[in-house]
Amino acid sequence: MNIFETYRRLTPASEALHRRATDLFPGGVSHNLRGYSPHPIYPRTASGARFTDVDGRTYLDLWMGHYALILGHAAPEVKRAVADALEAGWHWGMPGEAQVALAEALRAAVPGLEEMRFCSTGTEATMYAVRLARGFTGKPWVLKAAGGWHGASTDLSFAVKPPFAGAEGPGLLTASEQGVDPLAFNDVEASLRVVEAHRGRIAGIIVEPMIGAGGFLPAKPEFLRFLREVCDDEGAVLIFDEIITGFRFRCGTLADEMGVTPDLTTLGKIAGGGLSLGVYGGRREIMETANPLAARGPGRPVLVGGGTFSCNPVSMAAALATLEALEERGEAFYGELARRGERLRRGVEERFSAAGIPVECTGKGSLFMTHLLREGARGLESPADIAAKTRGEIKDRELRIALANRGVFAVHGGGALSEAHGDAEVEAILDAYEGAAGDLMRELA
Ligand SMILES: Cc1ncc(COP(=O)(O)O)c(C=O)c1O
Repeated sequence: MNIFETYRRLTPASEALHRRATDLFPGGVSHNLRGYSPHPIYPRTASGARFTDVDGRTYLDLWMGHYALILGHAAPEVKRAVADALEAGWHWGMPGEAQVALAEALRAAVPGLEEMRFCSTGTEATMYAVRLARGFTGKPWVLKAAGGWHGASTDLSFAVKPPFAGAEGPGLLTASEQGVDPLAFNDVEASLRVVEAHRGRIAGIIVEPMIGAGGFLPAKPEFLRFLREVCDDEGAVLIFDEIITGFRFRCGTLADEMGVTPDLTTLGKIAGGGLSLGVYGGRREIMETANPLAARGPGRPVLVGGGTFSCNPVSMAAALATLEALEERGEAFYGELARRGERLRRGVEERFSAAGIPVECTGKGSLFMTHLLREGARGLESPADIAAKTRGEIKDRELRIALANRGVFAVHGGGALSEAHGDAEVEAILDAYEGAAGDLMRELA
């Protein structure tokens, strides 16, 4: 039986749901990443490092809610805070105490976050950050990293997937109509050429300090410093999208660890404690351009901040409980997660190489992604490298299914550890990867 037949045999209830779903949603899902062939797994309950699906199978989860759940599924502190918030009514559409407390906690943790606004998703956060950059500078062009995913907004759905050029599909303006051009991640020389082409017209640059969906590749410090210098020279706004990296490696941002301060930062995922939250904020003078109450001249304020559900009390409570828990756990918690992450990255590389499949595990701390290397390829530094040197389609198809058959749910060949992923879980995950490597050898033979 091949891996896909085994998968079908193990997941009939998910298959039946998917059949109904494909008649209701394009591709059967409401987020492209959640749909895959032959059908996705449908969880029913989740707790700690595991979920149980509608067929009654339990999986070790590496996806952890799009990397949002650093304390594990249904973490007790967050659950309590959410239950209390529900008791108090879950949607007021008015400011609340928790919103102020959360903003104060975030400001204490994130350098340069003088003022901020909360919305419900990361997509909104990056969209508004870019609008603020254009509004503040009065300039049109936004530069983003090739391979960088900032959500599916009209502003930033450009050069996300290979060949890293132009709009990601129909329905979007062309890149030049939109005023977006890609930079070569981690390549100062090539990026400088793009900057030169737009001198005098650059509103802002948006990048992740570690590229996320594009491959879990940390930025080189010199690349971030180069972006900082370009923005300083141009009077442009440097935006770091820390929606994956914020609170993932430390109780704060990755840019802070790397010693570069942006003008604006976007946060989400962990910062929302596993409920819906997007944050955009930074230098007061930039944020104040959006102040609808400020006395001003003839100009109008930058319009940001719609959102029926923004600052809903439940998200505020989950976020605060998570930040408090992370603060309390301190550096030792992140050190332990990083140790387990490193063990996983090295372990997966060793076990795949023992099975005769060369892979490179990218990532940092508790994040990892496994890339199946093409013959003779090594050294992944950018999304362009990944496109040229790896077999991404196998990673996302066969590897995902082989791992699921062995009780591990991985996306992009890896995922995120949480507090609930202890040494025993890491060992079990490594065993599943070892088994999956053998399955892949047979599958690809
Ligand atoms: C770096 C980054 N920015 C923005 C987003 C968009 O966030 P959301 O999915 O909450 O809209 C994501 C989502 O994966 C992301 O990884």
